[in-house]
Amino acid sequence: MTNPGPQWILVTGASRGIGEAITYDLAAAGFAVVATGRNRNDTEKVAETAQQKGGQCLPIPMDVSRPQDIEAVATRLHEEGILLHGLVNNAGALGPIGHILETDMDEWVRTVEINLFGAFHCIRAFASLFLPSKACVVNISSGASEKAMEGWSAYCASKAALAMVTRSLALEASDTCLAYGLQPGLVDTQMQSRIRASGVNPVSGIARENLLRPGDPAAIVTWLCRERPTDLAGEEFRADNPEIRRRAGLAALPE
Ligand SMILES: NC(=O)c1ccc[n+]([C@@H]2O[C@H](COP(=O)([O-])OP(=O)(O)OC[C@H]3O[C@@H](n4cnc5c(N)ncnc54)[C@H](OP(=O)(O)O)[C@@H]3O)[C@@H](O)[C@H]2O)c1
Repeated sequence: MTNPGPQWILVTGASRGIGEAITYDLAAAGFAVVATGRNRNDTEKVAETAQQKGGQCLPIPMDVSRPQDIEAVATRLHEEGILLHGLVNNAGALGPIGHILETDMDEWVRTVEINLFGAFHCIRAFASLFLPSKACVVNISSGASEKAMEGWSAYCASKAALAMVTRSLALEASDTCLAYGLQPGLVDTQMQSRIRASGVNPVSGIARENLLRPGDPAAIVTWLCRERPTDLAGEEFRADNPEIRRRAGLAALPE
């Protein structure tokens, strides 16, 4: 029997936080990862560690707010004959913290360019590389996609729109991909450090020790890429959902 070769997953925002953890978890599970991020040094370091965990990892610089970067990565993967088993739209920014009537307009727009247009461009550009057996698309969402949080209008609006992209994909592109929206919960990353420092809205008051580790949502992403559950396609779900955790083989969280 011929060796089918590695199963490639492209991760955006792989330089740190949840994206870094996803890259390591996928690599440890035997996937090959295209680790993309804005900073070449950071993604190269992540790729080195991922390789030590047993998986192949190709670091490529890519800013998701620059469609030309995304097109260049798609062209390179095409030239290298890499087809994608999965795409994880993880890159995200909290954006300006401030009230909607006063917040900086350019920063607001920039947040949408990263969180929404970035994921949209990635889906469009990489769809031609999706395996005929369908790719798994995981959009890293947020509880803020469903609930307005004071000071975070750009973040909430862009994540709410991203959730609708997940649903639209399931409706319109179910022959091409299985799309999931994963809300990772409150996870101990730089994003949460910035939230704590802001003192704005109740999330900033949550103690660091009460946050989830990035490995938790990462394990759920790996499970989605491996199992590709059809019953969850087009759905948004949370990483602390007991049923999702049970199915992904994660321990239940303390009550
Ligand atoms: N942490 C939480 O509690 C939490 C909760 C709900 C949802 N999320 C979501 O989880 C995802 C990861 O967040 P995190 O907590 O890991 O945050 P983080 O530590 O701030 O990391 C954000 C990642 O996104 C990358 N990124 C930002 N702008 C980018 C751009 N224009 N192009 C490419 N990469 C870009 C960053 O890369 P650079 O190093 O280049 O800046 C970094 O790798 C985000 O989508 C976030 O909205 C997080």
